[in-house]
Amino acid sequence: MPGETNPPDKDEGFTVTPWEVEGDIDYEKLVEKFGTSKIDEELIARIEDTTGEVHFMLRRGIFYSHRDFDWILDQYEKGNTFAMYTGRGPSGNTHVGHLMPWIFAQWMQEKFGVELFFQLTDDEKFLFNFDLSLKDTHSFAIENALDIIALGFDPDKTHIIIDTDNIDTLYPIALRVAKRINFSNVKAVFGFDNSTNVGSIFYTAIQSAPCFIPSEREGKNVPVVIPCGIDQDAHFRLTRDIAETLGYYKPSLLHNKLAPSLDGTGKMSASKPSSTIFTTDGPDEIRSKINEAFTGGRISAEEQRKKGGDPDICAVQNYRYYIFQPDDEIVEDISRRCKDGDILCGECKNLLIDTINDFLGEHQKRREEAKDVLKDFLM
Ligand code: TRP
Repeated sequence: MPGETNPPDKDEGFTVTPWEVEGDIDYEKLVEKFGTSKIDEELIARIEDTTGEVHFMLRRGIFYSHRDFDWILDQYEKGNTFAMYTGRGPSGNTHVGHLMPWIFAQWMQEKFGVELFFQLTDDEKFLFNFDLSLKDTHSFAIENALDIIALGFDPDKTHIIIDTDNIDTLYPIALRVAKRINFSNVKAVFGFDNSTNVGSIFYTAIQSAPCFIPSEREGKNVPVVIPCGIDQDAHFRLTRDIAETLGYYKPSLLHNKLAPSLDGTGKMSASKPSSTIFTTDGPDEIRSKINEAFTGGRISAEEQRKKGGDPDICAVQNYRYYIFQPDDEIVEDISRRCKDGDILCGECKNLLIDTINDFLGEHQKRREEAKDVLKDFLM
Protein backbone atom coordinates (compact mmCIF):
# COMPACT_ATOMS: atom_id res chain seq x y z
CA MET A 1 0.00 0.00 0.00
CA PRO A 2 1.44 3.36 -0.91
CA GLY A 3 2.78 5.45 1.94
CA GLU A 4 1.48 3.09 4.60
CA THR A 5 4.64 3.21 6.69
CA ASN A 6 5.91 6.42 8.33
CA PRO A 7 2.93 7.48 10.44
CA PRO A 8 3.61 10.51 12.64
CA ASP A 9 5.36 9.30 15.76
CA LYS A 10 4.97 11.13 19.02
CA ASP A 11 7.28 8.83 20.98
CA GLU A 12 10.45 10.45 19.72
CA GLY A 13 9.91 13.73 21.53
CA PHE A 14 9.08 15.59 18.34
CA THR A 15 6.37 15.55 15.69
CA VAL A 16 6.68 16.63 12.08
CA THR A 17 3.58 16.48 9.90
CA PRO A 18 2.25 19.08 7.47
CA TRP A 19 -0.07 20.41 10.18
CA GLU A 20 1.88 19.85 13.34
CA VAL A 21 5.49 20.64 14.03
CA GLU A 22 6.47 20.25 17.65
CA GLY A 23 9.42 19.55 19.89
CA ASP A 24 13.12 19.46 19.26
CA ILE A 25 13.36 18.15 15.72
CA ASP A 26 16.04 15.59 14.93
CA TYR A 27 16.54 16.27 11.23
CA GLU A 28 18.89 13.33 10.70
CA LYS A 29 16.26 11.01 12.06
CA LEU A 30 13.68 12.39 9.62
CA VAL A 31 15.92 11.49 6.69
CA GLU A 32 16.04 7.93 7.99
CA LYS A 33 12.39 7.74 8.86
CA PHE A 34 11.06 9.28 5.67
CA GLY A 35 13.62 7.46 3.52
CA THR A 36 15.06 10.57 1.85
CA SER A 37 18.70 11.22 0.90
CA LYS A 38 21.08 13.72 2.42
CA ILE A 39 22.27 16.54 0.15
CA ASP A 40 25.95 15.62 0.19
CA GLU A 41 29.16 17.29 -1.01
CA GLU A 42 28.95 15.49 -4.32
CA LEU A 43 25.46 16.76 -5.10
CA ILE A 44 26.41 20.28 -4.03
CA ALA A 45 29.45 20.11 -6.33
CA ARG A 46 27.19 19.11 -9.22
CA ILE A 47 24.87 22.03 -8.51
CA GLU A 48 27.88 24.34 -8.40
CA ASP A 49 29.14 22.99 -11.73
CA THR A 50 25.87 24.01 -13.33
CA THR A 51 25.06 27.25 -11.52
CA GLY A 52 28.55 28.59 -10.88
CA GLU A 53 27.88 29.12 -7.17
CA VAL A 54 26.64 27.41 -4.04
CA HIS A 55 23.72 29.09 -2.33
CA PHE A 56 24.39 29.64 1.36
CA MET A 57 21.32 27.57 2.26
CA LEU A 58 22.96 24.56 0.58
CA ARG A 59 26.37 25.32 2.07
CA ARG A 60 24.92 25.57 5.57
CA GLY A 61 22.75 22.49 5.29
CA ILE A 62 19.50 24.46 5.58
CA PHE A 63 18.39 22.70 2.42
CA TYR A 64 19.74 19.37 3.58
CA SER A 65 17.72 16.49 2.18
CA HIS A 66 16.34 15.48 -1.21
CA ARG A 67 14.61 12.89 -3.30
CA ASP A 68 15.98 12.25 -6.80
CA PHE A 69 17.53 15.68 -7.32
CA ASP A 70 20.53 13.91 -8.89
CA TRP A 71 18.09 12.59 -11.52
CA ILE A 72 16.82 16.15 -12.13
CA LEU A 73 20.42 17.22 -12.81
CA ASP A 74 20.91 14.26 -15.15
CA GLN A 75 17.86 15.34 -17.11
CA TYR A 76 18.95 18.97 -17.12
CA GLU A 77 22.38 18.02 -18.44
CA LYS A 78 20.68 16.13 -21.27
CA GLY A 79 18.78 19.30 -22.18
CA ASN A 80 15.53 18.08 -20.63
CA THR A 81 14.75 21.10 -18.50
CA PHE A 82 12.64 20.77 -15.39
CA ALA A 83 9.91 22.83 -13.75
CA MET A 84 9.76 23.90 -10.12
CA TYR A 85 6.80 23.77 -7.79
CA THR A 86 6.39 25.13 -4.27
CA GLY A 87 3.63 26.59 -2.14
CA ARG A 88 2.35 28.29 0.93
CA GLY A 89 -0.69 27.80 3.11
CA PRO A 90 -2.17 31.30 3.49
CA SER A 91 -3.18 31.19 7.16
CA GLY A 92 -1.90 34.66 7.92
CA ASN A 93 0.40 37.42 6.81
CA THR A 94 3.89 36.57 5.66
CA HIS A 95 6.64 36.56 8.25
CA VAL A 96 10.33 36.59 7.51
CA GLY A 97 10.68 32.85 8.26
CA HIS A 98 8.44 32.13 5.28
CA LEU A 99 10.81 34.01 2.99
CA MET A 100 13.62 31.55 3.64
CA PRO A 101 12.66 28.76 1.18
CA TRP A 102 11.25 31.31 -1.28
CA ILE A 103 14.57 33.15 -1.45
CA PHE A 104 16.12 29.80 -2.34
CA ALA A 105 13.45 29.06 -4.96
CA GLN A 106 14.09 32.44 -6.57
CA TRP A 107 17.80 31.62 -6.77
CA MET A 108 17.01 28.25 -8.34
CA GLN A 109 14.75 29.88 -10.89
CA GLU A 110 17.40 32.40 -11.81
CA LYS A 111 20.23 29.89 -12.01
CA PHE A 112 18.40 27.15 -13.90
CA GLY A 113 16.07 29.45 -15.85
CA VAL A 114 13.06 27.32 -14.98
CA GLU A 115 9.30 27.84 -14.72
CA LEU A 116 7.89 28.03 -11.21
CA PHE A 117 4.40 27.05 -10.12
CA PHE A 118 3.58 28.54 -6.73
CA GLN A 119 0.47 27.18 -5.03
CA LEU A 120 -1.44 29.23 -2.45
CA THR A 121 -3.74 26.82 -0.66
CA ASP A 122 -6.61 28.97 0.58
CA ASP A 123 -8.76 25.81 0.59
CA GLU A 124 -6.31 23.95 2.84
CA LYS A 125 -6.11 26.67 5.44
CA PHE A 126 -9.90 27.01 5.43
CA LEU A 127 -10.38 23.28 5.96
CA PHE A 128 -7.75 22.88 8.66
CA ASN A 129 -8.42 26.01 10.69
CA PHE A 130 -11.79 26.18 12.32
CA ASP A 131 -11.58 29.95 12.82
CA LEU A 132 -10.67 30.99 9.29
CA SER A 133 -13.27 31.75 6.61
CA LEU A 134 -12.60 31.29 2.91
CA LYS A 135 -12.67 35.03 2.59
CA ASP A 136 -9.87 35.28 5.17
CA THR A 137 -7.66 32.67 3.53
CA HIS A 138 -8.22 34.10 0.05
CA SER A 139 -7.23 37.56 1.15
CA PHE A 140 -4.13 36.18 2.93
CA ALA A 141 -3.31 34.41 -0.35
CA ILE A 142 -3.30 37.74 -2.19
CA GLU A 143 -1.21 39.37 0.55
CA ASN A 144 1.27 36.47 0.49
CA ALA A 145 1.46 36.67 -3.32
CA LEU A 146 2.77 40.24 -3.01
CA ASP A 147 5.64 39.02 -0.84
CA ILE A 148 6.44 36.26 -3.31
CA ILE A 149 6.52 38.69 -6.24
CA ALA A 150 8.64 41.15 -4.24
CA LEU A 151 11.43 38.56 -4.04
CA GLY A 152 12.16 38.99 -7.74
CA PHE A 153 10.68 35.94 -9.45
CA ASP A 154 10.56 36.13 -13.24
CA PRO A 155 7.09 37.31 -14.32
CA ASP A 156 7.28 35.34 -17.57
CA LYS A 157 8.17 32.12 -15.81
CA THR A 158 6.19 32.29 -12.58
CA HIS A 159 2.62 31.12 -12.18
CA ILE A 160 0.88 31.70 -8.89
CA ILE A 161 -1.99 29.31 -8.32
CA ILE A 162 -4.71 30.26 -5.85
CA ASP A 163 -6.63 27.05 -5.29
CA THR A 164 -10.19 28.39 -5.22
CA ASP A 165 -9.51 30.62 -8.25
CA ASN A 166 -7.70 27.96 -10.28
CA ILE A 167 -9.77 24.94 -9.33
CA ASP A 168 -10.68 24.33 -12.99
CA THR A 169 -7.03 23.52 -13.70
CA LEU A 170 -6.44 21.59 -10.49
CA TYR A 171 -9.60 19.53 -10.23
CA PRO A 172 -9.28 17.11 -13.16
CA ILE A 173 -5.74 16.22 -12.06
CA ALA A 174 -6.70 16.05 -8.37
CA LEU A 175 -9.51 13.64 -9.21
CA ARG A 176 -7.17 11.24 -10.96
CA VAL A 177 -4.82 11.43 -7.96
CA ALA A 178 -7.63 11.01 -5.43
CA LYS A 179 -8.91 7.88 -7.14
CA ARG A 180 -5.58 6.18 -6.39
CA ILE A 181 -5.32 7.11 -2.71
CA ASN A 182 -7.50 5.44 -0.13
CA PHE A 183 -8.56 6.45 3.36
CA SER A 184 -6.16 4.09 5.09
CA ASN A 185 -3.23 5.71 3.22
CA VAL A 186 -4.02 9.23 4.43
CA LYS A 187 -4.87 8.01 7.92
CA ALA A 188 -1.46 6.37 8.19
CA VAL A 189 0.54 9.15 6.61
CA PHE A 190 -1.14 12.15 8.24
CA GLY A 191 -2.53 10.64 11.43
CA PHE A 192 -6.17 11.37 10.53
CA ASP A 193 -9.03 9.72 12.41
CA ASN A 194 -12.80 9.44 12.14
CA SER A 195 -13.33 13.00 13.34
CA THR A 196 -11.29 14.51 10.46
CA ASN A 197 -13.51 16.46 8.07
CA VAL A 198 -13.83 14.98 4.59
CA GLY A 199 -12.36 18.06 2.91
CA SER A 200 -9.11 17.50 4.77
CA ILE A 201 -9.08 13.86 3.74
CA PHE A 202 -9.32 14.87 0.06
CA TYR A 203 -6.94 17.81 0.34
CA THR A 204 -3.66 15.99 -0.39
CA ALA A 205 -4.91 15.38 -3.94
CA ILE A 206 -5.11 19.16 -4.42
CA GLN A 207 -1.54 19.61 -3.21
CA SER A 208 -0.39 16.84 -5.56
CA ALA A 209 -2.04 18.34 -8.62
CA PRO A 210 0.52 21.09 -9.42
CA CYS A 211 3.24 18.40 -9.69
CA PHE A 212 1.59 17.41 -12.95
CA ILE A 213 0.48 20.79 -14.32
CA PRO A 214 3.76 21.35 -16.22
CA SER A 215 3.33 18.00 -18.02
CA GLU A 216 -0.30 18.78 -18.80
CA ARG A 217 0.59 22.19 -20.19
CA GLU A 218 3.48 20.93 -22.31
CA GLY A 219 1.72 17.82 -23.51
CA LYS A 220 4.73 15.71 -22.53
CA ASN A 221 6.35 14.54 -19.33
CA VAL A 222 8.23 17.32 -17.56
CA PRO A 223 10.50 16.58 -14.57
CA VAL A 224 9.47 18.62 -11.52
CA VAL A 225 11.40 19.54 -8.40
CA ILE A 226 9.71 20.78 -5.25
CA PRO A 227 11.74 22.83 -2.78
CA CYS A 228 9.77 22.62 0.48
CA GLY A 229 9.97 22.24 4.23
CA ILE A 230 10.57 18.65 5.29
CA ASP A 231 7.19 18.83 7.05
CA GLN A 232 5.52 18.71 3.62
CA ASP A 233 7.20 15.47 2.62
CA ALA A 234 4.21 13.31 3.62
CA HIS A 235 2.06 14.77 0.82
CA PHE A 236 4.68 14.09 -1.78
CA ARG A 237 5.40 10.55 -0.57
CA LEU A 238 1.81 9.84 -1.56
CA THR A 239 2.23 11.74 -4.84
CA ARG A 240 5.37 9.81 -5.69
CA ASP A 241 3.64 6.51 -4.96
CA ILE A 242 0.95 7.16 -7.55
CA ALA A 243 2.73 9.35 -10.14
CA GLU A 244 3.88 6.58 -12.43
CA THR A 245 0.53 4.81 -12.47
CA LEU A 246 -0.88 8.07 -13.84
CA GLY A 247 1.84 8.20 -16.47
CA TYR A 248 3.94 11.00 -14.95
CA TYR A 249 7.45 11.21 -13.53
CA LYS A 250 7.74 11.12 -9.76
CA PRO A 251 8.35 14.65 -8.49
CA SER A 252 11.78 15.28 -7.02
CA LEU A 253 12.16 17.12 -3.70
CA LEU A 254 14.61 19.44 -2.00
CA HIS A 255 13.86 19.68 1.73
CA ASN A 256 14.69 22.54 4.04
CA LYS A 257 14.87 22.63 7.82
CA LEU A 258 12.25 24.85 9.41
CA ALA A 259 13.16 28.40 10.42
CA PRO A 260 13.49 28.62 14.21
CA SER A 261 11.48 31.16 16.19
CA LEU A 262 12.67 34.33 17.88
CA ASP A 263 11.72 33.11 21.34
CA GLY A 264 13.94 30.05 21.01
CA THR A 265 11.10 27.53 21.01
CA GLY A 266 10.65 25.55 17.82
CA LYS A 267 9.38 26.80 14.48
CA MET A 268 8.66 30.45 13.78
CA SER A 269 4.90 30.79 13.88
CA ALA A 270 2.49 33.58 13.06
CA SER A 271 0.38 32.57 16.06
CA LYS A 272 2.99 34.22 18.29
CA PRO A 273 2.96 37.77 16.85
CA SER A 274 5.27 39.24 19.49
CA SER A 275 8.07 36.89 18.50
CA THR A 276 7.40 36.93 14.78
CA ILE A 277 8.61 39.57 12.34
CA PHE A 278 6.13 40.23 9.57
CA THR A 279 7.26 41.50 6.18
CA THR A 280 5.14 44.61 6.66
CA ASP A 281 6.59 45.52 10.08
CA GLY A 282 8.12 48.98 10.35
CA PRO A 283 11.44 49.86 12.02
CA ASP A 284 9.87 50.34 15.48
CA GLU A 285 8.23 46.92 15.50
CA ILE A 286 11.39 45.31 14.22
CA ARG A 287 13.44 46.97 16.94
CA SER A 288 11.13 45.98 19.76
CA LYS A 289 10.76 42.38 18.55
CA ILE A 290 14.48 41.86 18.11
CA ASN A 291 15.15 43.46 21.46
CA GLU A 292 12.80 40.90 23.03
CA ALA A 293 14.42 37.99 21.21
CA PHE A 294 15.80 34.99 23.02
CA THR A 295 19.61 35.03 23.00
CA GLY A 296 22.48 32.93 24.25
CA GLY A 297 23.58 35.78 26.51
CA ARG A 298 24.45 35.70 30.24
CA ILE A 299 22.56 37.35 33.09
CA SER A 300 24.94 40.27 33.37
CA ALA A 301 27.27 42.11 31.03
CA GLU A 302 30.12 41.40 33.42
CA GLU A 303 29.52 37.67 33.35
CA GLN A 304 29.19 37.68 29.59
CA ARG A 305 32.48 39.46 29.14
CA LYS A 306 34.09 36.85 31.36
CA LYS A 307 32.42 33.66 30.08
CA GLY A 308 31.14 34.60 26.65
CA GLY A 309 27.69 33.88 25.19
CA ASP A 310 26.26 30.88 23.34
CA PRO A 311 25.54 31.81 19.69
CA ASP A 312 24.35 28.28 18.88
CA ILE A 313 21.11 28.74 20.80
CA CYS A 314 20.68 32.43 19.98
CA ALA A 315 17.65 33.52 17.94
CA VAL A 316 19.45 36.68 16.80
CA GLN A 317 22.30 34.68 15.33
CA ASN A 318 19.81 32.18 13.89
CA TYR A 319 18.17 34.96 11.91
CA ARG A 320 21.51 35.79 10.32
CA TYR A 321 22.36 32.17 9.70
CA TYR A 322 19.05 31.10 8.19
CA ILE A 323 17.92 34.19 6.31
CA PHE A 324 19.68 37.50 6.43
CA GLN A 325 23.43 36.99 6.22
CA PRO A 326 24.72 35.11 3.16
CA ASP A 327 28.33 35.89 4.09
CA ASP A 328 29.75 33.03 6.18
CA GLU A 329 32.68 35.08 7.40
CA ILE A 330 30.44 37.67 9.00
CA VAL A 331 28.36 34.98 10.70
CA GLU A 332 31.44 33.19 12.00
CA ASP A 333 33.09 36.40 13.12
CA ILE A 334 30.08 37.32 15.25
CA SER A 335 29.95 33.81 16.73
CA ARG A 336 33.60 34.04 17.65
CA ARG A 337 33.27 37.46 19.23
CA CYS A 338 30.17 36.31 21.11
CA LYS A 339 31.95 33.25 22.55
CA ASP A 340 34.93 35.39 23.52
CA GLY A 341 32.73 37.88 25.31
CA ASP A 342 33.82 40.66 22.95
CA ILE A 343 30.37 41.50 21.69
CA LEU A 344 27.34 41.80 23.98
CA CYS A 345 23.73 41.14 23.07
CA GLY A 346 22.70 44.78 22.76
CA GLU A 347 25.29 45.59 20.13
CA CYS A 348 24.67 42.31 18.33
CA LYS A 349 20.93 42.97 18.23
CA ASN A 350 21.52 46.45 16.85
CA LEU A 351 23.55 45.00 13.99
CA LEU A 352 20.71 42.63 13.13
CA ILE A 353 18.10 45.37 13.42
CA ASP A 354 20.03 47.38 10.81
CA THR A 355 20.29 44.36 8.51
CA ILE A 356 16.58 43.59 8.76
CA ASN A 357 15.61 47.24 8.31
CA ASP A 358 17.66 47.40 5.11
CA PHE A 359 16.19 44.17 3.83
CA LEU A 360 12.58 44.93 4.67
CA GLY A 361 12.81 48.54 3.55
CA GLU A 362 13.70 47.31 0.08
CA HIS A 363 11.21 44.44 0.27
CA GLN A 364 8.35 46.76 1.21
CA LYS A 365 9.08 49.02 -1.75
CA ARG A 366 8.96 46.06 -4.12
CA ARG A 367 5.88 44.71 -2.37
CA GLU A 368 4.06 47.95 -3.21
CA GLU A 369 5.16 47.71 -6.84
CA ALA A 370 3.97 44.10 -6.90
CA LYS A 371 0.38 45.29 -6.59
CA ASP A 372 0.57 46.61 -10.17
CA VAL A 373 1.86 43.35 -11.63
CA LEU A 374 -0.03 40.84 -9.50
CA LYS A 375 -2.33 39.95 -12.40
CA ASP A 376 0.63 38.97 -14.60
CA PHE A 377 1.71 36.42 -12.00
CA LEU A 378 -1.64 34.77 -11.33
CA MET A 379 -2.24 31.64 -13.36
N1 TRP B 1 0.68 22.82 2.55
C1 TRP B 1 1.63 23.88 2.44
C2 TRP B 1 1.57 24.76 3.69
O1 TRP B 1 0.74 24.62 4.52
C3 TRP B 1 1.38 24.71 1.22
C4 TRP B 1 1.84 24.05 -0.05
C5 TRP B 1 1.07 23.69 -1.10
C6 TRP B 1 3.18 23.70 -0.37
N2 TRP B 1 1.82 23.14 -2.08
C7 TRP B 1 3.11 23.13 -1.67
C8 TRP B 1 4.40 23.83 0.29
C9 TRP B 1 4.26 22.67 -2.30
C10 TRP B 1 5.56 23.38 -0.35
C11 TRP B 1 5.48 22.80 -1.63
O2 TRP B 1 2.38 25.64 3.85
